[in-house]
Amino acid sequence: MPERARLGILISGTGSNMAALLYASRLPDAPYEVVLVASNNPAAPGLALAAAEGIATFARDHRGVPRAAFDEGIDAELGRVGVTHVALAGYMRLLSDAFVAKWAGRMVNIHPSLLPAHKGTRVHEAVLAAGDAVTGATAHLVTADLDAGPILGQVRVAVVPGDTPATLAARVLHAEHQLYPRVVADLVTAAVRPEALLDRVRALALALPAAGEKLSHGAPGFFVEGGKFFAYWRNDHHADGIVAVLVKASGVEEQASLIERDPDLYFRPAYLGPSGWIGLRLDTGDVDWDHIAEWLTRSWRASAPRRLAMLPV
Ligand code: GAR
Repeated sequence: MPERARLGILISGTGSNMAALLYASRLPDAPYEVVLVASNNPAAPGLALAAAEGIATFARDHRGVPRAAFDEGIDAELGRVGVTHVALAGYMRLLSDAFVAKWAGRMVNIHPSLLPAHKGTRVHEAVLAAGDAVTGATAHLVTADLDAGPILGQVRVAVVPGDTPATLAARVLHAEHQLYPRVVADLVTAAVRPEALLDRVRALALALPAAGEKLSHGAPGFFVEGGKFFAYWRNDHHADGIVAVLVKASGVEEQASLIERDPDLYFRPAYLGPSGWIGLRLDTGDVDWDHIAEWLTRSWRASAPRRLAMLPV
């Protein structure tokens, strides 16, 4: 099994989401382990639970400590135990910009509404006041804007007649506990999971002018208006175990020199090899996405009709 991600969880209160993450991490094949539970509230009940479960804890009262300095203290603890990803689980404190920037793309939050509806606090009151028939839970990446980072997953929850904020909160919590471990598992495996890699390739490819997607021999291919393909997706083609995107090099000479220069990254794709297409491996665990984007742009330009190829992209 590949090395597991090391999750740090920040809580302020009960910690039931922390518990859901922790117990999910003890299931077979869980791709992360919980290595630290930290809190801005030394009396948070979740801290005692984490300690009873044998998880390292860190608590410091935030009152009277400037935000940036407080977050630096938390960050130092996360670093000390080698945390790779952070989950906010009922952490009711705004984070400093520096902390958010440091953990960008590796820090998630769970919120008890179907974002973008009902950000902030007193969410269930707001749902009932608005007369919503459906609410839910949202897990999202943390960015500088409160409750507004890219959504990674949502679960819908019906509002039922007679619901109070308390009954609704309790039911939404059940949904949160299902959602959060799944989202964290997906996030920490995103660097190696083929579907997640395809999502990134697709986003880069389709951002190019007049680009489209259609199946080619059963696998996603990306073409530019006029019909020419500029990239092909490859996942375990003929059981070779390779996840890759194929792009157009200038010819077989460049293809050969690229492979010689970096055989861990480049390879000669079966069938397409003689025409100068080159395979870029995505299953390395640390893909340089700027480099992939450059190749896609170059391949797109080589495949585009003149009037499009001239465009600055
Ligand atoms: C959860 O409902 C969580 O979504 C919410 O606080 C509760 C914490 O419960 N978080 C927020 O509202 C953050 N904006 P827990 O301590 O039992 O996990």
